[in-house]
Amino acid sequence: MLRGIQHFISLFTILMLRELNCQICNLGMDNRNETNLSSVYHYGYAELTADKALNGNYSIHHTDCAGSANDTSRPYAWWQVTFKSVSKIFKINLIFREMYYRHVGYYVFITNHTVKYDQLSGLDPVYHDNEANASFQNTIVFPGGYYGRQLYLFVNHTKPSFMEPCEVEIFGCVTNENVPGCNCSDATIDNQELVLWDSRIAFGNGTVTLHCYKYYLSIMNLTSQTESELESILEACDGKQHCTIPTSQNLKYNTINFYCTDRCVNEAYNNTIFVSQLMTDSGIRYHRPTEACIDFTAFLKSRELNCSERYVLTNGNLTLQCQREGQWIGEAPVCNVTCQEPIHDNITMIRHTHPSPNYFADYSVTYTCRKNHRIVEGNLTRVCNKSGDWTEDKPVCKRCECPCERLKSQNFITDPQVLQNRIKEMEKELKINEKALSATVRKKTCAKDERKSAKGIGSVLGIGIIVFVVSIIVCSDIPILYRHIRYGP
Ligand SMILES: *[C@@H]1O[C@H](CO)[C@@H](O)[C@H](O)[C@H]1NC(C)=O
Ligand SMILES: *[C@@H]1O[C@H](CO)[C@@H](O)[C@H](O)[C@H]1NC(C)=O
Ligand SMILES: *[C@@H]1O[C@H](CO)[C@@H](O)[C@H](O)[C@H]1NC(C)=O
Ligand SMILES: *[C@@H]1O[C@H](CO)[C@@H](O)[C@H](O)[C@H]1NC(C)=O
Ligand SMILES: *[C@@H]1O[C@H](CO)[C@@H](O)[C@H](O)[C@H]1NC(C)=O
Ligand SMILES: *[C@@H]1O[C@H](CO)[C@@H](O)[C@H](O)[C@H]1NC(C)=O
Ligand SMILES: *[C@@H]1O[C@H](CO)[C@@H](O)[C@H](O)[C@H]1NC(C)=O
Ligand SMILES: *[C@@H]1O[C@H](CO)[C@@H](O)[C@H](O)[C@H]1NC(C)=O
Ligand SMILES: *[C@@H]1O[C@H](CO)[C@@H](O)[C@H](O)[C@H]1NC(C)=O
Ligand SMILES: *[C@@H]1O[C@H](CO)[C@@H](O)[C@H](O)[C@H]1NC(C)=O
Ligand SMILES: *[C@@H]1O[C@H](CO)[C@@H](O)[C@H](O)[C@H]1NC(C)=O
Ligand SMILES: *[C@@H]1O[C@H](CO)[C@@H](O)[C@H](O)[C@H]1NC(C)=O
Repeated sequence: MLRGIQHFISLFTILMLRELNCQICNLGMDNRNETNLSSVYHYGYAELTADKALNGNYSIHHTDCAGSANDTSRPYAWWQVTFKSVSKIFKINLIFREMYYRHVGYYVFITNHTVKYDQLSGLDPVYHDNEANASFQNTIVFPGGYYGRQLYLFVNHTKPSFMEPCEVEIFGCVTNENVPGCNCSDATIDNQELVLWDSRIAFGNGTVTLHCYKYYLSIMNLTSQTESELESILEACDGKQHCTIPTSQNLKYNTINFYCTDRCVNEAYNNTIFVSQLMTDSGIRYHRPTEACIDFTAFLKSRELNCSERYVLTNGNLTLQCQREGQWIGEAPVCNVTCQEPIHDNITMIRHTHPSPNYFADYSVTYTCRKNHRIVEGNLTRVCNKSGDWTEDKPVCKRCECPCERLKSQNFITDPQVLQNRIKEMEKELKINEKALSATVRKKTCAKDERKSAKGIGSVLGIGIIVFVVSIIVCSDIPILYRHIRYGP
């Protein structure tokens, strides 16, 4: 636990050294060659040209936004910016026209070479928005950076289509050219390093979408957010690749801090149930070095699980903390099935197996009936099966009515068919024995038998044995028979 916190502190030391936004430039402003739009909307007094999406303002539509014309002939619209050279893009913050949803289903394309809009259909977009009510603001983070010379916003779902970006912030650095304050070589970000990202909420109404390209979101606390708002943001975003959260007047101009991590997705571990998501204030407070950056609190996040009913933890941890680069601190929990403590009647039987705190699968318990008792139901050996049930029925021992202790084995034949077969077998055996009797032997060897009833004695003895054996067998069932007679079957 202590070690976990130390990890966490070192993580944030790295994180603060790798402060990104205060070092990287806005490529659309600082490294732009040109920008263009599929068509330009004219208000009469104002033109919503492409560059208005790169002027740092977004609030007043007719002065701060780009907007395509109402062109009923085309089922598509686009906006693009081309940089002076190939750049490494880390974050795109898109602010569309407030209260309009005409960019629904839009695509983002980033290419190393300049292309015409009609060549886009052959390319793979880096982002495609699937929100039914598109957010007015989308923040897309490429944690390792994404190289490109040109960026397109493209929409093609209706006729006419509109593209109305009010502001497009593209944060990154330049790889080859020397652009002051914008060189990738000067940037302290290495490819897979953990960096704190943010999204400053532009509007107090509507939604904001956060997206980590190929990674997963991990949200940080904010001093200015209310607890319930933070909780709903965490619920919607934490551990997800993509999330949409409602904004409020309270959240407007606030900054959501997050980082994009490898994993910490909420894995569905076998035989576990989710109990809660916990947040513990780490006691670490940060503020960012520039004026534009605000305070935030780092906190530990953990998930609490439990083993499902009948399951018991045999390995790993039921409390997992999401830490460095998406690794959960703690190991994946392994929950094994167990059977309940078996019960037996200690007056009639003895349990041989020692009681155990857990009875895992394949574990067996054995009993014997006490002296003068014999088993009448169930089985004296029971095994815990893979569903957490004991095999066989619970054994029941009953006091014997006749001297059954003489019998070595307590395996009684209760099935009449089996009994019948056994009798036949015995009869056969006895007949064979009869052949070996001296009378028979003598007869066969033609020696004269003087004794009168040698043969008779042989068969009488044979039948006597059968009767004796059968009576013992029946004897064992007398209590059952008796009960059947008295109480019916
Ligand atoms: C901007 O796009 C329009 C429409 O495709 C095109 O006609 C125009 O030539 C482009 N402007 C520049 C400067 O490339
Ligand atoms: C676009 O123009 C058509 C007529 O040319 C009009 O019917 C429609 O309302 C306009 N749409 C918008 C969104 O302005
Ligand atoms: C900038 O764009 C123009 C055409 O729009 C092109 O002729 C020129 O070569 C570009 N400059 C750079 C540095 O790419
Ligand atoms: C784009 O260019 C960069 C370097 O200039 C290269 O690393 C990257 O692989 C290229 N991307 C594609 C898709 O060709
Ligand atoms: C819209 O554009 C996307 C991306 O280029 C393409 O996959 C899709 O087929 C297009 N849809 C229509 C209706 O043109
Ligand atoms: C928020 O947007 C809804 C429409 O989506 C509108 O009815 C409402 O008045 C707006 N609220 C504020 C405070 O702007
Ligand atoms: C977030 O920060 C606020 C202000 O410091 C604090 O009151 C709140 O408890 C924190 N929330 C969590 C989950 O740490
Ligand atoms: C979880 O259960 C599934 C199906 O029984 C199995 O294929 C998988 O290996 C199990 N995973 C672990 C981690 O035991
Ligand atoms: C996780 O479980 C292992 C044993 O399975 C234990 O040694 C370790 O202390 C636990 N870690 C935490 C953080 O509880
Ligand atoms: C728990 O289950 C795993 C397989 O899911 C098995 O390998 C292990 O031996 C079991 N442990 C016990 C104590 O039964
Ligand atoms: C039998 O079980 C009862 C309670 O279940 C216990 O009090 C008693 O001591 C046990 N007797 C023997 C002989 O184990
Ligand atoms: C008792 O259980 C054992 C093991 O499952 C089995 O071999 C045996 O046939 C059972 N006996 C009866 C009488 O069901």
